[in-house]
Amino acid sequence: MQIAIVILAAGKGTRLRSNRPKVLHEIGGKTLLQHVVDAASQVVPPHDIFAVVGHQAEKVQAALQSRGIRFVLQEPQLGTGHALQCAERATRGYEHVIVLSGDVPLLRPETIIALRDFHMQQNPAMTILSATEEHPEGYGRIIRKHAGRPEVTAIVEQKSLRSGQEKIREINTGIYAFRRETLYDQIGLLTDENAHKELYLTDMARIFSRAHERVLAMDAADPVEILGANTIPEMMNLDQAMRMEIARRLMLNGVIIQRPDTVVIDSAVEVGPDTVIEPYAQLLGSTKVGSSCRIRSYSVIEDSALGDDVTVRQNCVVTRSQICSGAILGPFAHLRPGCVIGEEARIGNFVEAKQVRMGKGSKANHLTYLGDAEIGEGCNIGAGTITCNYDGQLKHRTIIGDGVFVGSHSTLIAPLIVGDGAYVAAASCITEDVPEDALALGRPQQTVKPDWAKRRRAQLESRKTHG
Ligand code: UD1
Ligand code: CA
Repeated sequence: MQIAIVILAAGKGTRLRSNRPKVLHEIGGKTLLQHVVDAASQVVPPHDIFAVVGHQAEKVQAALQSRGIRFVLQEPQLGTGHALQCAERATRGYEHVIVLSGDVPLLRPETIIALRDFHMQQNPAMTILSATEEHPEGYGRIIRKHAGRPEVTAIVEQKSLRSGQEKIREINTGIYAFRRETLYDQIGLLTDENAHKELYLTDMARIFSRAHERVLAMDAADPVEILGANTIPEMMNLDQAMRMEIARRLMLNGVIIQRPDTVVIDSAVEVGPDTVIEPYAQLLGSTKVGSSCRIRSYSVIEDSALGDDVTVRQNCVVTRSQICSGAILGPFAHLRPGCVIGEEARIGNFVEAKQVRMGKGSKANHLTYLGDAEIGEGCNIGAGTITCNYDGQLKHRTIIGDGVFVGSHSTLIAPLIVGDGAYVAAASCITEDVPEDALALGRPQQTVKPDWAKRRRAQLESRKTHG
């Protein structure tokens, strides 16, 4: 019960000009707040994490419900200092409070731990995580007592900077550690005499300093991880930084990403070595890709699992499906949720599948719709085959055994069972089960009229000369 982590997430995010609360905007495939909660969870158990929520509180809370963290309501939102005032009761009994910002999503757990250790060792009233930024505009600036010494006298917000102060490149990251008792002894001294008429948490630095309580700054090693996201361009910058970092991590593990600046890979995605990811591919959600696969350009794979040596050719869409080793998809294949494509199977161009289990080595190479179907091993599903799985009200299953040959342009009307080794003749409309090893023909018989075309041409010719 020593350390509580309080995450400030109640603000509206006015500068985003969005209806969605800022902390629910996503980068790297996760909300800003999820990133922060993930980092905090590496440092303390979830029940020691308190998210301060306010603007669209229910939505924000609902998004984190399953995480086991606790919530503090800030209503109305009167500034970052007020947000922490609201957390007084919830954090009773803790010795120290670490404050994180819901809109600083790249922060690593290692940095929180470094701040914690520094703070616990030095035991000041307040430790500020600071950073040195090339472009400090917009951030609060750190005023140190003496250059090169850790003691701080104040944090000055951008709008309150006096001449000369805008040159200060050491900024406030919005991340702090406080000795809890001292914090709540003095937090009532905050006032809203500033540009925004808000209670600024940053003013605690001056309040403590005047009360001869120590305020220290600890410099964050990496100036990128503490970047905040206040506007969409800032947020997309962070998104890019995060995705480049994900790509870099994968590449260092042997994944070949040809143009890492063009791919979109979410943070939870795993990829095995020697897999090649071509430009403009997207790997999203919880996708896992094995080794020696090739993901060609413009394919979008979401929440799916791919084995080893899988080839996904250009422009495939794969969602919540499993593709076993050696399978080849596309180009232009669409696997909707619930497909399991067996080893070395092939799903070719313009094939759509939904809830399809396809056995080892089976092929549906061209222009086909397979829905609610189970297909055995070594089958050949001809071009233009359609499983008619929907009768207007209910969905029905098509079950195809092993080694079945379905001729092109067949219509399989479910519910339907085609036994092992059966043949379905091309262009058949199949409405009844086909037994093992049978041939099913379901099309009008062909009639041939000998010399019909020749006679017609002669007829036309004679009309032209006589008419
Ligand atoms: C804040 C700091 C600034 C620092 C910057 C770093 C203040 C006054 N300024 O500015 O010195 O350089 O962060 O990123 O603190 N929030 C609440 N309740 C509120 C207001 C805000 O919970 O009433 C939350 C927001 O949702 C956000 C966080 O606090 O997650 C920071 O608020 P924001 O308005 O973004 O502060 P900045 O202007 O970025
Ligand atoms: Ca901010």
